[in-house]
Amino acid sequence: MIALRDVQKYYGDYHALRGITADIRPGEFFSLLGPSGCGKTTLLRVIAGFEDISSGSVLIDGKNMEGVPANRRPTNMVFQSYAIFPHLSVEQNVGFGLRRDPRPAAEKAKAVAEALEMVGLTGFGKRAAHALSGGQRQRVALARALILKPKVLLLDEPLSALDKKMREQMQVELIKLQRQVGITFILVTHDQEEALVMSDRIAVMFEGEIAQLDDPETLYRRPKSRRVADFIGVMNFLPASILQETGDKIEVDVAGLGRAEISIAQAPGKASGEGTSVGFRPETLTILYEGQNAPDRETEGTVEEVVYYGDMTYYDVRLDGVEKPVRISMRNVFGRPVLDIGTRARVAWSSGALVLFR
Ligand SMILES: Nc1ncnc2c1ncn2[C@@H]1O[C@H](COP(=O)(O)OP(=O)(O)OP(=O)(O)O)[C@@H](O)[C@H]1O
Ligand SMILES: [Mg+2]
Repeated sequence: MIALRDVQKYYGDYHALRGITADIRPGEFFSLLGPSGCGKTTLLRVIAGFEDISSGSVLIDGKNMEGVPANRRPTNMVFQSYAIFPHLSVEQNVGFGLRRDPRPAAEKAKAVAEALEMVGLTGFGKRAAHALSGGQRQRVALARALILKPKVLLLDEPLSALDKKMREQMQVELIKLQRQVGITFILVTHDQEEALVMSDRIAVMFEGEIAQLDDPETLYRRPKSRRVADFIGVMNFLPASILQETGDKIEVDVAGLGRAEISIAQAPGKASGEGTSVGFRPETLTILYEGQNAPDRETEGTVEEVVYYGDMTYYDVRLDGVEKPVRISMRNVFGRPVLDIGTRARVAWSSGALVLFR
């Protein structure tokens, strides 16, 4: 649907996009994820045609967009701060883009009603836009974009102004809406959880470059660098040394864990100067209770910190022989007490969950 080829963007001397190459598929829910200032909005504006590029190319539906103005592109954008007109009614806001549409008024009114229904605002048409909640305003902005039937909807942090509950609700609604209308969505977010929940694929960006482009599970399980691993959720790192490589297996010695065999598929990672290490997610380790056997491997340590979340508890456990504690997340089970700080813990682990960075 969209092909980005070595897209470069300079603002004066500032190199904002440094060679972006990616293909975004038709009907895909695609996210741009990265820290503030990495170029997400810039890339979205480049696709929408609000921003010229310095070199490279942007193709939409096979057509080069060079010289094609924003209003002639099959894209529509919902902005970071929802730009709805507070003095107009909901209906007038949604119908705004149709003001030069030659269709008869009755047909346009029907299109407005359909768009309002899509975003769950049926019955709100006559309401003044300023008399809406944040979530409702965001829906108006969505309806206003959808009514123009774009092939690609560009969403720049559309949910960032909403509180947590509302944001989670709108995330689910956006996914449903995207399935219903079947068009390509490109979402910008700096919230990794939001990106994981919503996307078919995610491009993780740092400093104007795509560091990794993958589906959520691959990104989470096989991050290609420590930086990506750190940005997506929590990843523990332990220093490791490589003992030998045989075929598709790498034998390593890991501080606090011991010897482990890591398959080459689990060794995609660049250590980027930080030395060889293995990474693993907090939920891949388990603290064993008395009498419980480890399904695979076992090590020991001391609980140094306990963070209780109701359904989950995070334990920071310092494995024997390691300086820094690792974080272990455990689902709380009824009848099993939360461990105290200072408890000696037997910890189960498995080499299949380890990712090698070298
Ligand atoms: N018009 C401009 N002129 C000069 N520099 C700009 C301009 N627009 C953006 N930049 C710079 O380009 C970089 C990328 O900006 P961009 O708005 O794309 O970041 P972002 O990833 O969307 O960040 P955020 O999460 O904070 O919205 C920033 O360093 C920004 O200061
Ligand atoms: Mg931005």
